[in-house]
Amino acid sequence: MCGIVGYVGRQQCADILVSALKKLEYRGYDSAGIAVHSNGKIKTVKAKGKIAEGLEAKLAKEGKPYGTCGIAHTRWATHGEPSDVNSHPIGNGRITIVHNGIIENYREIKEFLISKGYGFESETDTETVAKLLDYYYSGDPIDAIISALSDIEGAYALGIIFRDFPEKIYAVRKESPLIVGKGKGENFIASDMTAILEHTKEYYLLEQGEIAVLDGDSISFYNLHKGSIEKTICIADWDMDAAEKGGYEHFMLKEIHEQPSVIKTTINPRIKDGLPDLSECGITPEKLNSYKRIFVVACGTAMHAGVVGRYVIEKLARVPVSVEIASEFRYREPIVSEGDLVIVISQSGETADSLAAMRLAKQLGAETLAIVNVKGSSIAREADMLIYTHAGPEIAVASTKAYMVQIAVMYLLAFEMALAAGKIDETECRRLTSLLRETPEKIEKILENTEDAQYIAAQLLTADSLLYIGRGLDYALSMEGSLKLKELSYIHSESYAAGELKHGTISLITDNVPVIAVATQQNLFDKTISNIKEVKTRGAKVIIVCRESYVPDKDIADFKFGLPDDVEDLLMPMAAVVPLQLIAYYTSVLRGNDVDKPRNLAKSVTVE
Ligand code: M6R
Repeated sequence: MCGIVGYVGRQQCADILVSALKKLEYRGYDSAGIAVHSNGKIKTVKAKGKIAEGLEAKLAKEGKPYGTCGIAHTRWATHGEPSDVNSHPIGNGRITIVHNGIIENYREIKEFLISKGYGFESETDTETVAKLLDYYYSGDPIDAIISALSDIEGAYALGIIFRDFPEKIYAVRKESPLIVGKGKGENFIASDMTAILEHTKEYYLLEQGEIAVLDGDSISFYNLHKGSIEKTICIADWDMDAAEKGGYEHFMLKEIHEQPSVIKTTINPRIKDGLPDLSECGITPEKLNSYKRIFVVACGTAMHAGVVGRYVIEKLARVPVSVEIASEFRYREPIVSEGDLVIVISQSGETADSLAAMRLAKQLGAETLAIVNVKGSSIAREADMLIYTHAGPEIAVASTKAYMVQIAVMYLLAFEMALAAGKIDETECRRLTSLLRETPEKIEKILENTEDAQYIAAQLLTADSLLYIGRGLDYALSMEGSLKLKELSYIHSESYAAGELKHGTISLITDNVPVIAVATQQNLFDKTISNIKEVKTRGAKVIIVCRESYVPDKDIADFKFGLPDDVEDLLMPMAAVVPLQLIAYYTSVLRGNDVDKPRNLAKSVTVE
């Protein structure tokens, strides 16, 4: 979704702003722009399209605005098509703003402002905020901001510059995230830390309704009554390398290869004396033992991590788990109450539907546990209990390493829960925990074999559609494999419970609808093989993902991706997801797609 950056300091800011915007490209956008205080005016340059072809080309043609204070934006269109005029920054020469989020009552505000003589150029909700600020402005920016915010309903992160205050940036947020970076003789605003990591690791988290005022030497914070606020500085533990490609062709490939190491960083600190210990996250065995029902609420890949979690928790701890799509959960009057645990999984911690679902669960009396990757994000801040995954910045839109550590955390949770409930004894818990610790090595081994994934990808390029099938945990995994393929390759695919195929979906099978069958669960293996035969005899090309030692006959599969034999069934999703990620990655590469930024997608979905 949209990205915001602002710089105020002693250096010429145009290049700094553009380079920071490039760090936010991963969020997804369709236009970009900058506005700089320049010789007593605010000079704005903005353009539809990618930064390189749009904004940078325009800057090269028109010249970069000269100045040391400016704001910048990447826009992911919501109100009004992607176009130069709808791009941000937006302003009228006196006040210019960048905005993330959605102003829900923008029509009323627009009508009011039109009645006051204002004209509008763009179709955006943002322009109403810029004009409303102008309406209220009579020399004091903070007064104008406070008055305007009292009229606005919706979600916003705003970066604002006033022509009369050429060395200052103003910022405020509600719902949409915004941080304030503290440098030496220079300060920043940004939607997320990756934009400014090369300049500073020190930052403040702007809370709801707080106003930040920055110049090169100082940062002040005010509440909406204009009272001054003291805030604690945070230090980012991500470094620059984490946000660079590090020699890989794409972030996604780098992130796939980082999986062994991020599993270790995520689980090792939570294992004490060979047993899971989540007490530093506010989770105790007593608490875990007190829940009668568990809901996992999330979106997309994070929701798929929840599906794996459901199988594992139910199998080991025997507590009922229901996995819910956040956008459905929040509007279907869910039956959730005190005594229930609602687990919200989110890489970004800012997904609007997941956040709203979590708030609803709290209102209904449930306890909430967030499994989140981005420190200080909204979901992390509002949950009752919190487990950070330590995947580092995930830049590719397609989630890989974040999914891996989300499921790793679900395993730890399931093991501890099962032990607390007396469903497994300490010896078994130690055994499982130790197997979990061994998964990074197994994944390393799988990653040595990218050729098979490339070969399989080459077979899929012209497919009309694909089916991913499996049973049990293999079905859970098929969902993620299918999502990865469609978001990256733009080939339609569906995941299906293998045993359910013959109840309708098998009619889709033709020789141009390949089937990727995941068959790692030994108790279900023969049944899955029977289902595979059903599609094979109807002409499907079959790719099987299974243990290395299994050698399929020609009447079962055309290609095989082999996984290490010594991975326990329960932990197989962590191994088997890797070939599915690689197959999706290479299919996208071979089709010439933009792997890290697939069309129409945004990394952090902050609107519902
Ligand atoms: O930041 P979140 O984990 O809450 O994001 C949820 C989904 O938007 C996300 O997992 C999405 O499905 C992935 N980008 C798919 O690869």
